[in-house]
Parts: sequence; C-alpha cells; structure tokens
Amino acid sequence: MGTREIGLPQRVPGSGLPARVTIWEVGPRDGLQNEDTIVPVEVKLEFIDRLADAGLTTIESTSFVSPKWVPQLADAEQLLAGLNRREGVRYPVLVPNERGLKRALDASCPDIAIFGSATETFARRNLNSGVEQQFEMFEAVMAGASELNVRAYLSMCFGDPWEGPVPAEQVVRAGKRLLDLGCTQLSLGDTIGVATPGQVEGLLAEFDKAGVPADRLAVHFHDTYGQALSNTLTAFRCGVSTVDSSAGGLGGCPYAESATGNLATEDLLWMLEGLGIEHGVDLDALVRTSVWMAERLGRPSPSRVVKALAG
Ligand code: HMG
Ligand code: MG
Repeated sequence: MGTREIGLPQRVPGSGLPARVTIWEVGPRDGLQNEDTIVPVEVKLEFIDRLADAGLTTIESTSFVSPKWVPQLADAEQLLAGLNRREGVRYPVLVPNERGLKRALDASCPDIAIFGSATETFARRNLNSGVEQQFEMFEAVMAGASELNVRAYLSMCFGDPWEGPVPAEQVVRAGKRLLDLGCTQLSLGDTIGVATPGQVEGLLAEFDKAGVPADRLAVHFHDTYGQALSNTLTAFRCGVSTVDSSAGGLGGCPYAESATGNLATEDLLWMLEGLGIEHGVDLDALVRTSVWMAERLGRPSPSRVVKALAG
C-alpha cells in the first residue's frame, strides 16, 4: 500500500491562542555560531536570502562579539555589507558591549539585541563578567543606542548546567532590569532546553505578577529534551506571541555544551498551520532551504518536519 502525500496538517483551531504570531528566526546567528566549521560568508548570505524568500521578516543575522570568543561569526562586517536588505525585513544582530555597538552602528544596523544571563556562572562563561557587571556593560550599550530598537535576551531562565534550578524571582529580577534599561522586548532563553510546560506557565505568571505583561516577552527554547514545541504552545496560551526558532533546528551555545539546537522553525510552522495561526511563512520553501543548508553543513537537519517532508 502506498503512502499518501501529506504536505500540510489538517486545520483545526485551538482555544485561547493568538490569531497571529511573529517568528524571530535565529538560524543564521544561534545556528551558525555553534558549528564546528566556519561557514563561508557567501553561504550565510544565501541562507539569509532564502529565509527572506520563504517569508520570514525577522532574521537575526549575526553577532558583533569578540572574534576570539566566537570565530564562527567573525565575518559580521562582511555579512552586513553583503546583505540584500529587503523592505519589511529586519536583520537584528547581537551586541554585548560598547565595542559591539560601535561595529553595529558602523554597519548601519537599526535592530540590535543585548544578551544577559540570569545566573552568575553563565554570565562569567559567556560574557566574562558577573551578573552585576553585565548590567554595567549593557548600560553603556544603551547609552549609545537611543536611535536603535534593542531587544534583550536572558539566558538560563529555566535551569543552568552548573547551578541547577534557577529560582523564578532571580529570573524576573534580571529580566525586569533588562527591560528597565529601555529594551523593547525580553526573550526568555531556555539555553539548555530543560524547561517543561508547567515551569513555563509558572515563570510567565511571575513576570505578569511583577508587572511585565506577556506582550513584552518572547520565548527562546532549545530542544535538547524535545520540549520546545510544547513549551511554545504553553507560552502562546499565556499570551506570548513572539517566538524564536531556527530553520532546520540549527543552534546551540558554544559556552554551554549541553545546549543543542533551537526549536526548528519548520516544526513550529506545522503546529501553527494546524492551529490556523497566521505566520506568513511558506513551509515548503523553508524545508527546501534547510535541506540546502544541511547539505552545506554535511549532516541532516534534526527537524522532524524537515525529515518528514523532505524524505
Ligand atoms: P573579554 O575577553 O572580557 O573582552 O570578553 P575584553 O574587553 O577584555 O576584550 C578582549 C578582546 O576582544 C580585545 O581584543 C577586544 O578588543 C576584543 P584584543 O585587544 O585582545 O585584540 N573585543 C571585541 N572585538 C570585537 N567585537 C566586540 C569585542 N569586545 C571585545 N564586541 C566579551 C568579553 C563580551 C567581548 C566576550 O565574552 C564575548 O564576545 N562574548 C560573546 C559570547 C557569545 O557570543 N555567546 C553566544 C551568544 S549568547 C547565546 O547564544 C544565548 C542566546 O541564544 C539565548 C539563549 O539560548 O539562552 C542569546
Ligand atoms: Mg539560544
């Protein structure tokens, strides 16, 4: 018996969900920062172009960090200079410090993101600073970024490989401080992918209680334990409508070994299609892009949907 071609899921809306979500695509940054090999800038540029062709409108493209710390993204200037910037598409970049801000301004980037840690150990490992010192670094960035749209990331919101469980109050305190610096949005990172849905619901409730509504928040789940999609659905039910994901499920953090790929954008799209939530992305075009990228990287995409549709 032959199998039937199934290109899209049956559409059956769920209750208590947003009508539309914004996908913050992080593949070129979170994905490629973690590759063992350095991907040539031409390949990165084609990847970004294909992501825009597929309909993604927020594509985090690179980081202006120390090239000694992340050699994979040392070509940030070349990448920004070669970008085929499209009307209606934003290409945010990560900036840790004043040096990074200067580079971003020189490259005419209107959208940047600072990235902090909820835990001391990860702040030291990822930024070579303590939790307290990281805010001094970010204050200096914000002082020069008044013309820019600045997002904030907060890592280790749901667990830390060195410190274990991270108390919600600690996460909310650090997250509020980042927002108080003037950031437009706070993305809550499950850097090592350990969160489960009850924990997501609990943390979002704590933010709400502390006066931070869900529309100021985004979620950023790595998929180490296969929980990223259920955690994302839970966040949608709590009112979050911006979600970070990476094409083909690329991703990880070179300074947290237990971090694996992000929620795959294709896996997210399959669920959004099924729920009838608007997203504006062409799933087939994205699958073709991830297959193309997987060939460049020399290994298959970990995304279940890419495997199912490209197989
Ligand atoms: P440091 O070594 O303390 O920095 O690192 P420094 O100020 O002492 O400078 C050391 C050298 O780096 C100097 O060069 C500086 O000029 C240079 P030298 O004099 O030795 O030739 N330098 C820079 N060069 C270019 N651009 C810069 C820059 N800054 C300094 N911006 C630093 C401190 C913050 C720079 C370093 O720790 C760093 O770059 N860290 C970034 C690590 C990183 O990118 N991690 C991954 C992103 S975060 C993530 O993935 C998590 C997320 O996805 C959310 C989640 O999943 O949870 C966002
Ligand atoms: Mg990440």
